[in-house]
Amino acid sequence: MHVTILGGAGFLGRKLAERIAAEGNLAGRAISAMTLLDQVRATPPRAAFPVTVIEAGLDNFETLRTAMPEGTGVVFHLAAVVSAQAEADFHLGMRVNIEGTRNVLAAAAALKAPPRLVFTSSVATYSGGQDAVITDATRQVPANSYGAQKIIGELMVHDHTRKGFVDGISLRLPTIVVRPGRPNRAASSFASSILREPFLGEEAALPVPEDFALFIASPRSAVGWLLHAAGLATGAVGLDRSINPPGIRATTGEMLAALVAAGGDRGRVKRVDDKEIFDVVSPWPAKFDTARARALGFAPQPPLNEIIGAFLEDDLAATRALRTAGS
Ligand SMILES: NC(=O)c1ccc[n+]([C@@H]2O[C@H](COP(=O)([O-])OP(=O)(O)OC[C@H]3O[C@@H](n4cnc5c(N)ncnc54)[C@H](O)[C@@H]3O)[C@@H](O)[C@H]2O)c1
Repeated sequence: MHVTILGGAGFLGRKLAERIAAEGNLAGRAISAMTLLDQVRATPPRAAFPVTVIEAGLDNFETLRTAMPEGTGVVFHLAAVVSAQAEADFHLGMRVNIEGTRNVLAAAAALKAPPRLVFTSSVATYSGGQDAVITDATRQVPANSYGAQKIIGELMVHDHTRKGFVDGISLRLPTIVVRPGRPNRAASSFASSILREPFLGEEAALPVPEDFALFIASPRSAVGWLLHAAGLATGAVGLDRSINPPGIRATTGEMLAALVAAGGDRGRVKRVDDKEIFDVVSPWPAKFDTARARALGFAPQPPLNEIIGAFLEDDLAATRALRTAGS
């Protein structure tokens, strides 16, 4: 089986590619080849099968077809303009997150056998803020353009699935921490910065109060969920192909306490006012009842110390090396 990762140079795309390369199979099937497409050149992981890297956007149908040759069994669609950037550049967000996703679905639908298509949606599709409790039945009312674009993506995946063009699953990912490397243009980037920068001897800005909670998960959990979604028997999923995976709720104060428990210096974290970021993240809910995902076998996110431990074990050394190299 051929596997395609769109957004293969990104934070989660890279980790997913490495895990698939290490395991050599996916959804119980041996992998014959993998393609990583991204507008930024992806670094192919060491693998026992050929890995093709395509440096391209989502705007060209033929390029997307090349990235998904006949025999493609699973497509992971992770390429996106993320939250703060989609808010700052509305038209770019529309072009990539909606038109790009439409192109991806058209290319996947052109395959003779409908592939499993795993699309990464987001908790940012919800609003209601700190007091809201999101269940599997809660209506999505987005409070920013990124959330609206992700809902449209989910609906496109839903309808392409209903038509039998693809076999889709959308995962509404929590905020994934700790993001290695440099901060990105996600509005929630601070949640990673406050747990990453102190270990690098750098300062991090906290644009929300310490009682502000987020719904979070580790990259290990996110990759595990993506792999689980790739092999999920969809009989039990039914018509609703969007799933809220079981992350955890944590306040930034709890995150800072976990930082200290892991040996990090919370003195490096400075409270700042940043209205632009606060306006994007403040409507995001943090309390989720994820009964459906648990019933479908998505593994619950372990407590906060796992999240920090995963960063220290998997990513701190590489992030430090990148900083030393000046990137
Ligand atoms: N990381 C999180 O906290 C989080 C939370 C919820 C949802 N998500 C979603 O998960 C997915 C992966 O997130 P991530 O953190 O790895 O993001 P990321 O920004 O690290 O990776 C996204 C990748 O998409 C690529 N990309 C952007 N526009 C493109 C285009 N036009 N053509 C081709 N490639 C393009 C970027 O170059 C980047 O490598 C995204 O869809 C994101 O919206 C992430």
